[in-house]
Amino acid sequence: MSRRRRVYEGKAKVLYEGPEPGTLVQHFKDDTTAFDATKREVIDGKGVLNNRISEYIFTKLNEIGVPTHFIRALNMREQLIREVEIIPVEVVVRNVAAGSLSKKLGIDEGTVLPRSIIEFYYKNDELHDPMVSEEHITAFGWATPQEIDDMMALALRINDFLTGLFLGIGIRLVDFKVEFGRLYEGEMVRVVLADEISPDCCRLWDTRTNDKLDKDRFRRDMGGLVEAYQEVARRLGVLVETEPKRRGPTLVK
Ligand code: TMP
Ligand code: ASP
Repeated sequence: MSRRRRVYEGKAKVLYEGPEPGTLVQHFKDDTTAFDATKREVIDGKGVLNNRISEYIFTKLNEIGVPTHFIRALNMREQLIREVEIIPVEVVVRNVAAGSLSKKLGIDEGTVLPRSIIEFYYKNDELHDPMVSEEHITAFGWATPQEIDDMMALALRINDFLTGLFLGIGIRLVDFKVEFGRLYEGEMVRVVLADEISPDCCRLWDTRTNDKLDKDRFRRDMGGLVEAYQEVARRLGVLVETEPKRRGPTLVK
């Protein structure tokens, strides 16, 4: 087997050179990190679940005309994507107060927000991804005003779509983080959704029980992360059924 060229390795994914120019292979690892990777663990099967869930969501978004980097699924852990230039801004959309918003502003977790709120964070681990304003983003040249408008419009469309998708399977979309990239097509450049959408970067609460079905289970040492992600995949209809492990000889009558 020939070795593929590794283009980039992040905390949860690896990008390899793709089969054609302008494409990459996005590989989902089992590595799980939080708090700028000061907390880390390898959780068996997480990468497979995130690959499946993200692939399903990106396919649906492509179908409704939200441009994304996703081309097609390749295998259990990998997908073919278009190579984009990542805009170094994490876009968070919140519908319900939780996490850093609750902490910072003293709003009880679970409080429904008066409207969806968009926040920007500068993607820089050394600086712990600080929250920034549109002023910072344009002044420092991380994105143009037009690109910010595009990211906000796409983030709100994604929020509306995902809110409905999850509500239909008994899950409340509390908040999520997305990343965008610049796709160069000849003379043209446009903003497309990149990275992933999975329980690693969303808060997903069961509508009936309020059970957390997302990475907060890891951040808050609650356990049961894979079971929670499996439940999300199962409800979306994309659970990869694995063979039950044989526990030894079975009695044959
Ligand atoms: P926060 O409440 O910690 O700011 O997180 C908001 C949302 O963004 C939540 O769904 C988790 C997600 N998120 C990431 O995907 N990556 C990150 O590095 C952080 C801090 C949050
Ligand atoms: N993924 C980020 C990190 O490791 C943080 C998080 O999602 O909480 O460090």
